[in-house]
Amino acid sequence: MLGVAWHTTKSGIDNAMSDVDNIVVLTGAGISAESGLSTFRDPEGIWAKYDISEVATPQAFAADPELVHNFYNYRRREAQKVSPNAAHYALADLEHEVSARGGSLTLVTQNVDDLHRRAGSNAILQMHGALQKVRCVACADVHQWSDDLSIEVSCPSCGQRGCLRPDIVWFGEMPRFMEEIDEAMSEASLFVSIGTSGAVYPAAGLVSIAKQMGIETCELNLEPSANASIFDRGIYGPAATIVPAFVNEMLDLEPKSVT
Ligand code: OAD
Repeated sequence: MLGVAWHTTKSGIDNAMSDVDNIVVLTGAGISAESGLSTFRDPEGIWAKYDISEVATPQAFAADPELVHNFYNYRRREAQKVSPNAAHYALADLEHEVSARGGSLTLVTQNVDDLHRRAGSNAILQMHGALQKVRCVACADVHQWSDDLSIEVSCPSCGQRGCLRPDIVWFGEMPRFMEEIDEAMSEASLFVSIGTSGAVYPAAGLVSIAKQMGIETCELNLEPSANASIFDRGIYGPAATIVPAFVNEMLDLEPKSVT
């Protein structure tokens, strides 16, 4: 039954999947950094340039919707310009291989870009919402959206003007898919966290839940996160390098040659 990760064997540490298990992977902004999208809390990050209370709360939207729209319009345009990197593709490969072996990989992401989807991942839970979607506060319909948004735009469903908002979870709002995440955690034998600082809950609390449930845990990040001491294992370096290597290790494959 057991399939994953660094169990001590007579010959040392056995890192590869010998059989199949269920895996939960949590990703954050660090996995998209090498695609060209800013993280939040690095020195050049988004929160060094913008005040959270002015652009990422329901109160901010009520006070100055154009400012909030402009912030997300800029980020939506940036996200559309970039492409998935080797870390996104490696996770899509891992999902397909795990499911071919009869297991499952649930990809929980705090990221609002769509790079995991474009890399080929399927089981994605975007717990902080999506830049490519807007929601009408009048009729609650959600629409795919690639253009800029403003208070002049009307809802395609109900026709009301000025009622569309980014379908993003703002500070003070409830993250999405919490039941699905709980369910995936209850069936998992490995929890992997990639490219997140561990600063925002409930995502940052998943490693503690995993520990309480006896799930093995591994962090992959540029540097140790706020929760690094809780993880069973830490692998540090740029995601586009360390995630493909980790996936190869999990699948017991030779590294892919770079052409
Ligand atoms: P952060 O900016 O807080 O953390 C990004 C992490 O990625 C940091 O620990 C970096 O060291 C690491 N990192 C940077 N470059 C990397 C690279 N090339 N490879 C690997 N790791 C790298 O971003 P998140 O943890 O995702 O929420 O932030 C969580 C939430 O806070 C976001 O979803 C957003 C933000 O406020 C909302 O807006 C609701």
